[in-house]
Amino acid sequence: SSGLVGRDFMSLKHFRAEDIKQFLWTAKDLKTRMKDNGEIFQPLKGKTAALIFQKRSTRTRMSSELGMAKLGGHAAFMGPEDVHLGVNESVKDTGRVLSGMADIILARVYGQDFLDELADEASIPVISGLSDLLHPLQILADFMTLQEHFGYLQGLKIAWIGDGNNILHSLMYGCAKLGVDLNVATPAGYEPDADITEEAMKIAGKTGANFLMGSDPIKAAYRADAIVTDTWVSMGQEEEKKKRLNDFAGYQINRKMLKEAGADWVFLHCLPRKQEEVTDDIFYSKESLVWQEAENRMWTVMAVMLHLLQPYTPVHPMPKF
Ligand code: CP
Ligand code: NVA
Repeated sequence: SSGLVGRDFMSLKHFRAEDIKQFLWTAKDLKTRMKDNGEIFQPLKGKTAALIFQKRSTRTRMSSELGMAKLGGHAAFMGPEDVHLGVNESVKDTGRVLSGMADIILARVYGQDFLDELADEASIPVISGLSDLLHPLQILADFMTLQEHFGYLQGLKIAWIGDGNNILHSLMYGCAKLGVDLNVATPAGYEPDADITEEAMKIAGKTGANFLMGSDPIKAAYRADAIVTDTWVSMGQEEEKKKRLNDFAGYQINRKMLKEAGADWVFLHCLPRKQEEVTDDIFYSKESLVWQEAENRMWTVMAVMLHLLQPYTPVHPMPKF
């Protein structure tokens, strides 16, 4: 739909359920066309993306760089050592300069305010590649993966057991918008942001998504279709590592915890992963969809870049959401 052209992709809260479904539909359509059917499809020939990263990345960088290439465009990457951004050039000036050269910007940053300013100053679409507060691209990939596995999304129950971090914040918006139930268990002191929680629950109230916020992992896992977690020590929190490992004791995803979860759960993790938060026998099990989830980072970011740059109508029918 052409209503997405020229928009920024900062948070799922800015998008209607229909828009999120459009991104997911297009992602699946591109995967079918280009992976399953081997089609060469280059609608972004001549288009360029500027990727600027203040933090490390494997998936976000590769998915956007290779995804842009697959669509016929070109991406140029600047890491923390390269970019002047925030060191000896203002965000404002960086945004304006990149707008003169590229067609789209994808940025991974510490502060969300940094991204917001970049989006304000740039005259081209800006995509969030993660901030301390949000990671909307990850949730598109998670939803795509769950849709592929279950054949639908609305009515599924997701259990988040772990840190109240950027991934959870975007998951809350995503679940609220699409009517997916969400059980959250975070240790005391690691709850998700209060404003985001309030906003997401308000949206959930309208779409019928059930949210259960608490601190009990067993309760959260009960009858969940998907168990989701993330690292206990996010980028930028390295100095808190010791305290965090202590505070998260009892939150590791393992067979014993999930004994009462219910029948057919699957496991998701955005990666990078540590053994603290999930045992090997779950992470590498047949219930774990983490590799499909990681791959889907590419098809989903391709869908986002494509829709922000030009109208696109999928050739394959819309999946059930
Ligand atoms: N999941 C994710 O965003 O991974 P990277 O940090 O490798 O980009
Ligand atoms: N919560 C993690 C996600 C990494 C993709 C972090 O911010 O480091």
